[in-house]
Amino acid sequence: MNNNRPTQNKGNAPKRVAPTHEQSRNVAANTPRRTEADGRPIRRIRPSSAQSTQRVPQAPQQRPIRNRSDRNTNDVEALASRRRYLAEKKSARRAGVIAFFTVFLSLCLITCIILSLLVNDGKESTAKDFMVMMIEGSPDVEIPMSEAYQNEMLYIDFSAVAKLCGFSAVGDANGITYAFTSSSGIDQYIKFEYNSNAVTVNDHNITMSGIAFIKDNSLRVPFSFLEANIRGLNTEVDEKERTVTITREKMTGSRPDDPKYEEVVLLLQPEAPVTSPFEGEDDVPDPMDVEFISDLSAYEQYMNPADRDAYLVLINKENPVDQDYAPDDLEFVTQKYCVYTGDYQARMRHVAAMAMTAMLTEAENYGINDVKITLAYRNYWTQNWLYTGYIDEEMAKGLSREQAEAIVKTYSAPPGCSEHQSGLCADMHNVYFQTDKELEDFEYTEAYKWLKDNCWKFGFVVRFPKGKEDITGFQFECWHYRFVGRYHAYQMHTSGLCLEEYLQQLANAD
Ligand code: DAL
Ligand code: ZN
Repeated sequence: MNNNRPTQNKGNAPKRVAPTHEQSRNVAANTPRRTEADGRPIRRIRPSSAQSTQRVPQAPQQRPIRNRSDRNTNDVEALASRRRYLAEKKSARRAGVIAFFTVFLSLCLITCIILSLLVNDGKESTAKDFMVMMIEGSPDVEIPMSEAYQNEMLYIDFSAVAKLCGFSAVGDANGITYAFTSSSGIDQYIKFEYNSNAVTVNDHNITMSGIAFIKDNSLRVPFSFLEANIRGLNTEVDEKERTVTITREKMTGSRPDDPKYEEVVLLLQPEAPVTSPFEGEDDVPDPMDVEFISDLSAYEQYMNPADRDAYLVLINKENPVDQDYAPDDLEFVTQKYCVYTGDYQARMRHVAAMAMTAMLTEAENYGINDVKITLAYRNYWTQNWLYTGYIDEEMAKGLSREQAEAIVKTYSAPPGCSEHQSGLCADMHNVYFQTDKELEDFEYTEAYKWLKDNCWKFGFVVRFPKGKEDITGFQFECWHYRFVGRYHAYQMHTSGLCLEEYLQQLANAD
């Protein structure tokens, strides 16, 4: 019997994905300001008498008295000379006083400027500051800081954001509604009431942290509303430059000279449609109409299976399966699309294996021929081998078992909790990768970009997406693809919901 256990030999063992460690920060040592106290006295320059700018007048010398008549003349001259001396002395003293006060006042002014800079440093705002909002594709919107902060809350110009996202707007005296249709054909809206913090997002009533109000013909709403309810936008707050920059999120691999944007998604979705949103509607795309460059007609029944809901099994840390759980229709995936051979050749459930072959055939014909499957189905014991191996690796770094397990659980499922045991998923990597870093860099390859955008057509989803770590319980994995069938893959792809969220939404709709 094949126990599907890869050898412990590192060369054949599946690559283990190390957790992303935060890079240690270089903390620059503070350089103390040099003072006289540090043993390097500041040199003081004392002007020499020749360099002195302030000349002190000298007292004229008394001439010797030779006779009486001379004496009278000499007295007058001496008096005049004495007066001149006193006048010069007085004016020198006045110049000295003026110079002293000039220097003193300059020093006071400089001190005041330095103190005011120090006091203002780190403060949230001053009346002179500007909060600048730069929004791609439309003129920059500037809001003075005095307006950008209301009740110590940062506000944004939602009218400009709506323009950026291509929302249409309909308003009346009470409020304004922004609407758009997602690529899945579902109408979505946000309804604000003026001077109120009540908002409706797709029939969900929510309360904002501050009121919405009109200023200069544009709607101002708290920045926190944007962050909490809309995906597909990048917001960057630069405290130093006093700017907020809002841009559309670019697709991975998008070229700077030809940017492609992610779809803007409201996180509160319309209530889940109980029936297919495609049924009975003419103006929405039919997922059956997917076009391929390869002839995949023989695979259509697998990519878009008739038993549409049969592949929605959920296995995670909250929903484990027991150690004997194993699908009965496992088969090898086409060899040329697998990294390992023999007992370690990837296996999946029949329908998923066929859909996977279809996907990699299309990728190959599209010019992406450096991606292959490392591991797909794993039984309980293989998962146990991997999981405990990771814990040993972490403990070898000096961590306790508890600490090691807490880290490992974020990137590897404990035995019984891995959906690899379902036979419906596969890890795919760039075949040339050698290191864990290269493995993580798969995210930046053309192969990943293509898979991410197209996998739904073959019935697959990126199972552990970025930003959903708290819900899936695992770090982002660009290499892990899960088969759910085209219908559900399409719904998840367009709504941005991960499997846990999507199944919850379906359950709520029942
Ligand atoms: N790496 C995924 C979460 C697993 O171990 O199943
Ligand atoms: Zn995986």
